[in-house]
Amino acid sequence: MKLENRVAIVTGAAQGIGKAIAEKLASEGATIVAADIQGDLAKETADALGGTSVQVDISKEEDAQRMVDETLSAHGKVDVLVNAAAIVPFVPWDEVDFAYWRNIISVNLDGPYLVSRAVEKPMREAGYGRIVLIASNAFYAGTPNMGPYLAAKGGVVGLTRALATELGKYGITANAVAPGITRSPATLNSPHKDAFDFVQALQAIPRHGETQDIAPAAAFLASEESGWVTGQVIVADAGHIRD
Ligand SMILES: NC(=O)c1ccc[n+]([C@@H]2O[C@H](COP(=O)([O-])OP(=O)(O)OC[C@H]3O[C@@H](n4cnc5c(N)ncnc54)[C@H](O)[C@@H]3O)[C@@H](O)[C@H]2O)c1
Repeated sequence: MKLENRVAIVTGAAQGIGKAIAEKLASEGATIVAADIQGDLAKETADALGGTSVQVDISKEEDAQRMVDETLSAHGKVDVLVNAAAIVPFVPWDEVDFAYWRNIISVNLDGPYLVSRAVEKPMREAGYGRIVLIASNAFYAGTPNMGPYLAAKGGVVGLTRALATELGKYGITANAVAPGITRSPATLNSPHKDAFDFVQALQAIPRHGETQDIAPAAAFLASEESGWVTGQVIVADAGHIRD
């Protein structure tokens, strides 16, 4: 198993893509720390996988630090961070006021920065780390009704490159997965659910995306054998974006 003896924090692990990634990493042997603002559901994920959980708001610096401190107390190290937590909005541009903009940027861009920053020190000390961020193919497609989300996910791509550049010398890689539209609570409980058939017509592989379609790309980037890959984005979207 590729992740045996590895400790992996997965944010957004309460449901959806983050939960599927936690399950996949656990199936590869990782000890999972399931982190989410929905603490009870994160605990359910952790209990099912034999890991531990942390209730965390990734947009708060003290929470991000506590998440790492609790991981170190419970497991002694952190080898992998996957940041899947985010808000997936559907808001017409004309309704995006500054408070709304700030909220999305704070969770979807400040959050990845804060959790990456918090894992950096123990990873540097260990001389090893895998940071996996979750971007979105919506950034490349310019998907409507997601203005601040597109800006944040573009920022996640930039953050990925910055982390790769700054941390490579410490044995830490940083990469991102950019999913296409995927069946998750976020999309199935919002107007995004109406876009699946339209997007399917643009995909090379004609079916709806499942959370389990995204997890293997994250598992590869979380593994030791991905060590020569850094600063990259794997677009996992059934061939929707092909340029
Ligand atoms: N589903 C899609 O079509 C799709 C497509 C591209 C990218 N993504 C990305 O995949 C990731 C997971 O999306 P999903 O569809 O599973 O969404 P989801 O809403 O189903 O799950 C997101 C999880 O993040 C958690 N979360 C939200 N804000 C948080 C915060 N401040 N602190 C901690 N946890 C928080 C939620 O509680 C939830 O458990 C996100 O980064 C999203 O942007 C999703």
